[in-house]
Amino acid sequence: MHKITMLGTGLIGMFYTMTLHGLRSRDQVQVVYSRSAERAAKFAGDWNIPRWTTDMAAAIHDPETDVVVIGLPNNLHEEAVTLAAKAGKAILCTKPLARTADEALRILKIVEEAGVFHGYLEDLVYTPKTLKAIKSTQNGALGKVLWARSRETHPGPHSDWFWDKEQSGGGAIIDLGCHCIEISRSFIGKRVKPLEVMCWADTQVHPIEAEDSAVGLVRYANGAVGQFEVSWTFRGGMDLRDEVSGTEGTIWLNHWLRTGFDMFTSVGEGGYVAEKAEGSTGWIFPVGDESGSLGYFEMFADMLNALDKGQKPVEDFYDGYVVNAIMDAAYRSAQSKRWEPVNLAVWRGDAEADASGVLREYDAQHYLIKEEKMPDGQTKLILKDKASGKVIQKVVS
Ligand SMILES: NC(=O)c1ccc[n+]([C@@H]2O[C@H](COP(=O)([O-])OP(=O)(O)OC[C@H]3O[C@@H](n4cnc5c(N)ncnc54)[C@H](O)[C@@H]3O)[C@@H](O)[C@H]2O)c1
Repeated sequence: MHKITMLGTGLIGMFYTMTLHGLRSRDQVQVVYSRSAERAAKFAGDWNIPRWTTDMAAAIHDPETDVVVIGLPNNLHEEAVTLAAKAGKAILCTKPLARTADEALRILKIVEEAGVFHGYLEDLVYTPKTLKAIKSTQNGALGKVLWARSRETHPGPHSDWFWDKEQSGGGAIIDLGCHCIEISRSFIGKRVKPLEVMCWADTQVHPIEAEDSAVGLVRYANGAVGQFEVSWTFRGGMDLRDEVSGTEGTIWLNHWLRTGFDMFTSVGEGGYVAEKAEGSTGWIFPVGDESGSLGYFEMFADMLNALDKGQKPVEDFYDGYVVNAIMDAAYRSAQSKRWEPVNLAVWRGDAEADASGVLREYDAQHYLIKEEKMPDGQTKLILKDKASGKVIQKVVS
């Protein structure tokens, strides 16, 4: 059983607390911190939390708690981690870990030097669908993963600080790209080194300094590519989809819109439908279990089980640092309009990766490129002569 300090009473503080207190959990938030006394008191009342404070250090040093959960704006993560590491507590920090890779590396060093447990709260790699899809991929069902594409788009975030580059560190890339990048990395393999990034980013709609849309390609050492598609300009709710293609198979995941719960109402019911839903009448797409669909239950279970067992969780601050390094390269590429290297001062994965293609033997003389059943019932084989390199076709009845 863990007693938790919750930092932040905004959207994520609420989802995290709802998850931690859900299903009669043994783990309980004991103290909550917010800048505003009114908001802290209301949050504590709503979620049955014994203590609240407007003093971040006091919340972190609360003598009863052993875990600090950080649900504050991006520019406050380093300060919160520094205080929590000094207090010797286990630290769970929301995404993105930091605004830049330099800031993320400082954060990583702080927890490693203090020797405290650290977990990176990247919920979207923990959705039940994603966990099962990653397992199938690891079991070889897709062969070698070649392309892992991940999209998160919605009409834009719900609080002022996200839109201010100084506080957030950037726009849609830093806010949503961090999820997509870690999803792709999880399918391609977290030990495979990300080498370089090509990214387009623009401010298409909103009057802000940061990008509100971006598409990027991340090239990995084994030849696989991760693709992220992010936007704060998308209309119609929150689009969360992933596609994974391998030499032997394909996975398509849809997490939010059109997940099998479609409802039509001409009058609505006067309330919230789902995160970032744009309307409450007409055809709507409610989500049966938001915390489950976004991975929060599995994520906290992994974090707190790992803490109990003295193990590393699936996602820790090192993963957060790698994601920040990839995003830094994406920002550089959006400026230079070229492939930019991913600069990883600390790399803990494999030094080398097999980037060769997958050859299929046909006979002693040929490789098989492709086999297809044609409408006339014949089978066409496309073959490559091993010695000459010539490509030929053979039709068999
Ligand atoms: N799926 C996810 O993992 C997910 C979803 C949303 C947000 N987040 C992350 O959670 C963090 C918070 O986002 P949110 O959506 O809860 O934001 P929010 O605006 O809803 O809440 C932010 C909280 O921080 C407090 N705060 C704001 N400025 C502050 C300041 N200067 N000093 C002290 N406290 C301050 C606010 O009062 C509020 O309690 C961000 O890092 C964000 O990227 C993660």
